[in-house]
Amino acid sequence: MNQAAQAVRPLITAEDVSKTYITASGSPLLAVDRVRLDINDGELVTVVGPSGCGKSTLLRMIAGLDDHTGGSLKLDGTPITGPSRDVGVVFQSANMLPWMSVRENVALPLRVGGKHNPQAGRVDRLLEMTGLGEFSSRYPYELSGGMQQRAGICRALARDPRILLMDEPFGALDALTRERMNLELQRIWQESGKTIILITHSISEAIFLGDRVIVMSARPGRVLRDIEIPIPRPRSLDTIIAHPAYGDIAREIRGLLNAEGTVD
Ligand SMILES: Nc1ncnc2c1ncn2[C@@H]1O[C@H](COP(=O)(O)OP(=O)(O)OP(=O)(O)O)[C@@H](O)[C@H]1O
Ligand SMILES: [Mg+2]
Repeated sequence: MNQAAQAVRPLITAEDVSKTYITASGSPLLAVDRVRLDINDGELVTVVGPSGCGKSTLLRMIAGLDDHTGGSLKLDGTPITGPSRDVGVVFQSANMLPWMSVRENVALPLRVGGKHNPQAGRVDRLLEMTGLGEFSSRYPYELSGGMQQRAGICRALARDPRILLMDEPFGALDALTRERMNLELQRIWQESGKTIILITHSISEAIFLGDRVIVMSARPGRVLRDIEIPIPRPRSLDTIIAHPAYGDIAREIRGLLNAEGTVD
């Protein structure tokens, strides 16, 4: 393949990806239905959809934590068969280990593998950046839900992964912290060139952060619409709402979600 062709190959490719769970009672449940999606290197793509439509399932399959039962899912042209070192995941709940301090939890991915990691200094910088600096020696039970979630974000960033998959990372945060984290994430993304997929229930957050917003249907989750956000970067929270495209896009997404029966 020549260089030009390589440059345009998507980093993540989902072709008709489906997932059928077998429930505890033994009956099949189609959670994700033939999702087609290309994510380019360096893109920040946001995903919205009704609760239970399969967003987390899709993210876990891309992370290699859950297998797909139909279609093809590739990372850099290679079928995804398990977790990759290139991928960091921020889960919907923080999943902190209760017997470790905040700093130890955040540094955990650096310790896995047993080597001293020269990036250990990153941990303290990340904790400072997310306002957790003075809490680094505390234990998870001493933190609020929002603080635990911020620690989860630090943990995913600690290894500096090329791809970041974020499952409602800011859902538990208060409005002001959430706005600050939106700006921080935009900055990290612009400076690092990472590829990010972020699930959110917030239409405004999806538009603010996304190069594209993927709108999913109610379960079984399909891609209803893939909407380009033509708003220049860096975006600020004030200017984005004033942009002429913002209102139309927000209304379009709301209309799609309303038609699916849920808007959060
Ligand atoms: N391990 C599992 N076994 C059986 N069914 C599951 C399992 N995990 C998820 N499901 C079902 O799959 C569907 C999609 O779940 P998923 O967690 O992906 O939704 P979601 O879009 O992330 O929802 P939310 O917005 O509420 O987080 C739901 O109906 C859920 O009940
Ligand atoms: Mg979910």
